[in-house]
Amino acid sequence: MIDAEPDGLSPEDYATLCGFLRERTGLSFTEAKRYFVDRRVAARMRSVGAADLTVYMNLLRFQASGEELQRLVNLMTVNETYFFRETYQLDCLVNSVLDELVRGRPAGSRLRIWSAGCASGEEPYSIAIMLLERWGRVDDYEIELLASDIDSAVLERAREGVYDERALQGLPAHLRVKYFQPLRGADEDGGPRWRIMEELRESVDFSLVNIADPRQVRAFRGIDVIFCRNLLIYFDDLGRREAAAMFHDALAPGGFICLGHSESMSRMSSLFIPRRFPDAILYQKPDGGTP
Ligand SMILES: C[S@@+](CC[C@H](N)C(=O)[O-])C[C@H]1O[C@@H](n2cnc3c(N)ncnc32)[C@H](O)[C@@H]1O
Repeated sequence: MIDAEPDGLSPEDYATLCGFLRERTGLSFTEAKRYFVDRRVAARMRSVGAADLTVYMNLLRFQASGEELQRLVNLMTVNETYFFRETYQLDCLVNSVLDELVRGRPAGSRLRIWSAGCASGEEPYSIAIMLLERWGRVDDYEIELLASDIDSAVLERAREGVYDERALQGLPAHLRVKYFQPLRGADEDGGPRWRIMEELRESVDFSLVNIADPRQVRAFRGIDVIFCRNLLIYFDDLGRREAAAMFHDALAPGGFICLGHSESMSRMSSLFIPRRFPDAILYQKPDGGTP
């Protein structure tokens, strides 16, 4: 059978490009991802008229605006997500974690929750809905909901807050009616679309942040709960350890981190204490006192 695709990068070029992406983004592409990477890089090289990888790498490295690097990064990320994904952790947040965190804190004080690697926004919006629906003390505290991603295109979609049926299928029907408005006009597959209500869109502060870049993460301090789910699976062991240390710095003492179901902090770092709650296991930054 004749392969209609171009031959792709040579082994040396593939190693150069993946090394560069690893250094800039933390994303680790093994040989198994070659088809995925080759296709995307070939498309970008065609689009900017780069004759070979050296020319293209120069553009990635030295373009003052960083625009091409951002475009490539946007193509290299996996943005799969949906509302109420891994709900047991959201249950854990409203059933156990928040009450523990606010114990002894006066009403009116601040609580900071960060969704790192939020993709198109389903995760932080799910957290916002959970808090409104299920945490009785939601009005007693000043809750800051921060959300970030390395992919500028998904962040744009997160800010717009328009979702299709697939994104919403895990959301109980009464919550769809309560927090979403149906939009006129179908999505590209002919299906219906909904927009999350403005009040919720305004409740989340979205920003472009690469968690593999310590300078960008330095702005996040005193966080009470970090959600970093289904992101570190794309990092290698060293990248995961560095990310864990960085999250440790960003958390307030006693703060918690939630990882995806296939990710285990114990394999990444010994900086955290695993905490088993009735709904889920979370990892806690020690606060010097008893948990
Ligand atoms: C599979 S999605 C997970 C979304 C959501 N957290 C969830 O669990 O449903 C992974 C997200 O991590 C983002 N990501 C990958 N590398 C990143 C990095 N270095 N810094 C920030 N975000 C990154 C991707 O752009 C993507 O949107």
